[in-house]
Amino acid sequence: MNVLTVVGARPQFIKAFAVSRALRPGHEEILVHTGQHYDEEMSDVFFDELGIPEPDYNLGVGSDTHGRQTAAMLERLEEVLETEQPDVVLLYGDTNSTLAGAVAASKLDPLVAHVEAGLRSYNREMPEETNRVLTDHASDLLFAPSESAVDTLASEGITDGVYFVGDVMYDALLWAREVAQENSTILDELSLADSEFILATVHRAENTDERANLEAVLTGLSNADLPVVLPVHPRTKKQLQAYDLWERASNQLTVIEPAGYLDFVRLLDGATRVATDSGGVQKEAFFLETPCVTMRDETEWVETVESGWNVLVGARTEEIERELRNASPPDELPSPYGDGDAATKIVERIVTDVAATDD
Ligand code: UD1
Ligand code: UDP
Repeated sequence: MNVLTVVGARPQFIKAFAVSRALRPGHEEILVHTGQHYDEEMSDVFFDELGIPEPDYNLGVGSDTHGRQTAAMLERLEEVLETEQPDVVLLYGDTNSTLAGAVAASKLDPLVAHVEAGLRSYNREMPEETNRVLTDHASDLLFAPSESAVDTLASEGITDGVYFVGDVMYDALLWAREVAQENSTILDELSLADSEFILATVHRAENTDERANLEAVLTGLSNADLPVVLPVHPRTKKQLQAYDLWERASNQLTVIEPAGYLDFVRLLDGATRVATDSGGVQKEAFFLETPCVTMRDETEWVETVESGWNVLVGARTEEIERELRNASPPDELPSPYGDGDAATKIVERIVTDVAATDD
């Protein structure tokens, strides 16, 4: 069996790492990096830390408008798929790299497999919502991280090829938590102690691309009752500078470069709370039992909110401030995202389905 994996953005390196560990021992994997993320700390650091092999192809598309970036990926991916003729194309999440992979592969022969299928924010303003809806509808195998994602797909008429496997990020985190505890020195480097700081991340377009929203978020974080560490996404840095907010952010928060995965997991594990608009970070906070304040108005990871471990506050200063002070963790942590063996289940299913198409 010959699997071609498409990655391009930070969270996809982590997800693909989890599945590759289960895949590579017995099967051939061709790794394609679209080049959507390219800075050392947004890309190389994950390959190094996680021991991900060099990509077989780097399409080098870089940053651009949605249309141009996706089109450049699509054109180059088609050529790679025609050269490699894989049995399966593995796609992750909801980025432009995911969508380009779905469009390119679904018009050719391979089975299209989508990991993290069935998630919805029901906010069509989000580019990621378009990407995930279209990718799900173009996929043959849909690997859902939760039972609610299976139900969502069914409500859209997708029932064939849908499997509840759990969340591959949980698989990755179970490995990373221990390694990070042993090896990361980030707390010492920042002169921080466990439970004495808040971790924050911001990169969602709705928060970064409107000055009023970015300022509201910055003010909310600045008013927190503990030091706030902000590993700053390049998009956010660019916008803070453009809006003349960079100096203020640097003075009021502990702004650091984007962290490597192990340092980030160590920070998240040690933080009293996390404030974020990231999808992955909401889940990782939940797994690590760090109460989460999500600076969005909706989430795809509804179970984190229903369980009381996550609260939605949008880009509203007072709510951010209040929840960062008040959020109190519930007594129980449910496990809606599987048992940490999603990758193995995905590989087993792919092997079975490829064998069935060969018959
Ligand atoms: C992308 C995904 C988003 C995901 C996020 C993970 C889409 C539409 N968005 O958002 O779903 O949550 O990745 O982090 O696919 N930049 C750099 N260096 C880099 C990468 C980006 O400077 O290595 C800057 C560029 O100015 C670029 C901007 O960040 O224009 C945005 O990058 P892009 O990949 O388009 O979107 P993200 O916000 O990273
Ligand atoms: N992450 C990281 N360093 C950081 C911020 C995030 O390693 O400075 C990791 C985090 O642990 C999670 C993933 O990146 O696994 C989330 O990526 P991001 O927030 O960029 O994207 P999203 O999940 O929102 O698509």
